Amino acid sequence: MRGFFCLFVSLFILVSCTKHQNVMKLQGDVWPDTKGNVINAHGGGILYHKGVYYLYGEFKGDSTYLLESVKTWECWRADAGGVSCYSSTDLMNWTFEGMALSVVSEDTTSDLHPSQVIERPKVIYNRYTKKFVMWMHIESPDYEKAHAGVAIADSPTGPFTYLGSFKPNGQDSRDQTIFKDDDGRAYQVYSSEWNKTMYVSLLNGDYTKPSGIFTRNFEGEYREAPAVFKSKGTYYMITSGCSGWDPNVALYATADSMLGEWTLKGKICTGKDADSTFYAQSTFVFPVTGKKQTFVAMFDRWNKTDLDDSRYIWLPITFHRDSLEIAWKEEWSTDFKMN
Ligand code: DGJ
Repeated sequence: MRGFFCLFVSLFILVSCTKHQNVMKLQGDVWPDTKGNVINAHGGGILYHKGVYYLYGEFKGDSTYLLESVKTWECWRADAGGVSCYSSTDLMNWTFEGMALSVVSEDTTSDLHPSQVIERPKVIYNRYTKKFVMWMHIESPDYEKAHAGVAIADSPTGPFTYLGSFKPNGQDSRDQTIFKDDDGRAYQVYSSEWNKTMYVSLLNGDYTKPSGIFTRNFEGEYREAPAVFKSKGTYYMITSGCSGWDPNVALYATADSMLGEWTLKGKICTGKDADSTFYAQSTFVFPVTGKKQTFVAMFDRWNKTDLDDSRYIWLPITFHRDSLEIAWKEEWSTDFKMN
C-alpha cells in the first residue's frame, strides 16, 4: 500500500512538472508582451536584479527608410524611439515597463532626437553608487559619429538621466556591450577603428567613463555585435562579421582575462542556417540565475526594410570539453531540460 502511495505521488509530481514546463517556441516569430503588444527591444541586453530579469532594447520607430545620401552601404534606418524596458521572472512572460530612456523630440541637436541612432543599450548595476548605468551606441543618421552614450538611474526601470556621449579612449565606438565581472570591475567592449578592431575598455569606479586602461583585439578582423560572458574562469565573446543588416557567420573567442589576450576559436552555431547565424546577429548572453553553467544567447533577426519588425532568437549554449555550441532549436525548455 505504501509503495503504491509513493508511486502515485511520484507520478503526480512528474505530471505537474511536465504540465508547467516553460517552452520557448517563438524563435523568429512575433513576441507579444503580457498585454499582447509586440515586444520592441532590439539589440538588447538583460540585467538580473533582485529576482527579476529586465530586458532593455532599441525601441524602433514604425517606418523604415533608406538614407539615399549614404553611398557606401545600404543605410536602412528607423527613427530612434529610445530604450525600452520589459521585466520578467520566468523569461517567458515580459511586462512592458515603459521607456527606460526617452527620446528628446523637441531638441534637434540632442543625441536622443528621433532622427539620430540609439543602438545596443546595455545596463549594469553599481553596488557602490547604487546607480543603474546604461551604455549605448549613439550615432548620426549616416553612422559616422561612432560615439558611446551613458545614462544613469536610481531604479532598473528608469527613468534614466542621459549624461552625454563621447569617443571612449579617443576612438570610434560602434556596436558595443558592457560586462560586469565577479570582482565588481566593469568593461565596455566595442567595435572601433571603423570596425577593424575590438576594444575592451575597463570602466572607472562608477562605471560612467573609461578608466583609460584598454586593449585592442582581433586587429583587422572586422568583428562587431559583441556578447561577453564568463564561465568557470574563462571569458567568452561571441561576435559577428560586418555586413550591415545582413547576417553572416558568428564566431566565438576566449580569454583568461577581460583585457586579453583574446583568441578567435571558430564558429559557434550548428544546425539549420548555422552559417548565417540562423539569419540573425548576436547581441547578448546572460546566465540563468540559480542554474549552474546555464547561459542563454540572444540574437536579432534583422528585417532591414521593416526594422521594427525585426525578430528575436534566443538559444541555450552547450559547453563541450573543448568547445562551445549554440545549436538551432525550434523550441526549448526554460526549465533547462533541453528538448
Ligand atoms: C550592424 C550592427 O550590428 C547593427 O547594430 C546596426 O548598427 C547595423 N549594422 C546597421 O547596419
